[in-house]
Amino acid sequence: MLTDALLRRARAFAAERHGLLIGKDWQPAASGRRFDVEDPATGAVFASAARAERADVDRAVTAARGALETGAWAEMKPAERSRLLWRLAALLERDADLISLIETLDIGKPFAQMRGLDTAFAIELFEYNAGWPTRLAGDSLPLSNPGDWHAYTVREPIGVVGLIVPWNAPLMMAAAKLAPALAAGCTVVLKPAEQSPLSALYLGRLVQEAGFPPGAVNILTGFGAEAGAAMAEHIGIDKISFTGSAATGRRITLAALGNFKRVTLELGGKTPVMIFPDADLDKAASAAARSIFANTGQVCNAGARLYVHRTVFDRVVEAVAARAQSLRVGSGLDPETDMGPVISAAQLDRVTGYVATGRNEGAEVLTGGARLDRPGHFIAPTVLTGTSLDMRVAREEIFGPVLCAMPFGDDDLSRIAAEANGTQYGLGAQIWTRDLGIAHRLAARLKAGTVRVNGSGLDPALPFGGFKASGWGREYGREGVEAYTELKSVAMALPEV
Ligand code: NAI
Ligand code: MG
Repeated sequence: MLTDALLRRARAFAAERHGLLIGKDWQPAASGRRFDVEDPATGAVFASAARAERADVDRAVTAARGALETGAWAEMKPAERSRLLWRLAALLERDADLISLIETLDIGKPFAQMRGLDTAFAIELFEYNAGWPTRLAGDSLPLSNPGDWHAYTVREPIGVVGLIVPWNAPLMMAAAKLAPALAAGCTVVLKPAEQSPLSALYLGRLVQEAGFPPGAVNILTGFGAEAGAAMAEHIGIDKISFTGSAATGRRITLAALGNFKRVTLELGGKTPVMIFPDADLDKAASAAARSIFANTGQVCNAGARLYVHRTVFDRVVEAVAARAQSLRVGSGLDPETDMGPVISAAQLDRVTGYVATGRNEGAEVLTGGARLDRPGHFIAPTVLTGTSLDMRVAREEIFGPVLCAMPFGDDDLSRIAAEANGTQYGLGAQIWTRDLGIAHRLAARLKAGTVRVNGSGLDPALPFGGFKASGWGREYGREGVEAYTELKSVAMALPEV
């Protein structure tokens, strides 16, 4: 519950002089520099964080390497790693209200949504991954080489991993990387985005309280071009797991080539939502609205393109527009708020810039389109019609509450799929129909990492990631934790008897 007492605690945490978690201590940046932390609902600076650079990355990598190779973490049995992850999940549950509110201050997301979605899912991610340490096994393999062989594979931790997360869901994404990395036995250097460092700092305290050995988890707040770039290049880091923009993903990949780091990338999307006339149209329309307006559209898998069958297009799009108009836009601290601000002035410019581009390209603004005349970075939920794939608004990731609605006719499914597949991205797709034939045939034709039929949402057990320019690899599920391991084959020729 959001109470005055909770708000005082969140503000008191924010106001502390935060350091970097390197080994067992919180320390200032080697340079002594700091940066401001902004509340996007007001535009006001309300906290500061230490500004890590290359020298701090070096220290964090040394601490992580030390913990990986010697001491308590290196010697820890899988069951004890499980217990630590369960303990961390329980501590997060204990402090869920507080950490949710800290993040609401930092990114503007409404508190109830923060607590009920992001923080709840972060807890689930730790709980789910807590089950993996004792189950990460290899195989034993029957060889056909001459002689008698005993051959098996083992999964070993990949080593020191750098986790670089964005600002749209900072706690959830930190958990989505931290939990499987630790389950696999890796040690980590976590860098939250410069727009949203606070929840990672709080999480760092819980990591310490849970009893993780020093150096297993290191947390560096800082800028992408400084701390982030130094991590991507660092020869002491064995893998980078990154979520963010395609442009930064490309930069990280090139920097990672120096030591052929493993790289997992979760990049953007332009997820199509396809509604067929036989679907439960009310449910589909409200889900379509939620899919683009949740978290102010700042979601990689946001349903940014709405394709509706011509016969029900007007009805569905009007319902989505009505929903957009009914959303109360405001501060995440106000319990009445449905949709918060976008993260920054730069992001607001980007989103309104796209709306302007859309207008120039011939799109019609059915509702929304303008920033709100108040402090903070607010924009009205927006629905564009008259868009098509030759327009930038319909093809490129906007990362704001802007929906492009387009009709389709009785074309065959391959044409609908070609339209849905018509961007560089391939993260997700949603289908709304009661017809199993349409659902399965279309699902098979979509080039998307996740296809959802008559629903949406994430589950820690279900792999998530993209085809094409939406990224490399998968998070969540078995694949997500195996991505933090190297596979070793051991084959032993048995001595003659
Ligand atoms: P970004 O990709 O630059 O930032 C994400 C993270 O990468 C942050 O932690 C940042 O510090 C770090 N970073 C930046 N440059 C780096 C570098 N050279 N080396 C290593 N790390 C680096 O995203 P940005 O600029 O904040 O947002 C721009 C656009 O990116 C958004 O409008 C959206 O379209 C997309 N984006 C997509 C996300 C997703 O979930 N797929 C999340 C955030 C942004
Ligand atoms: Mg902030």
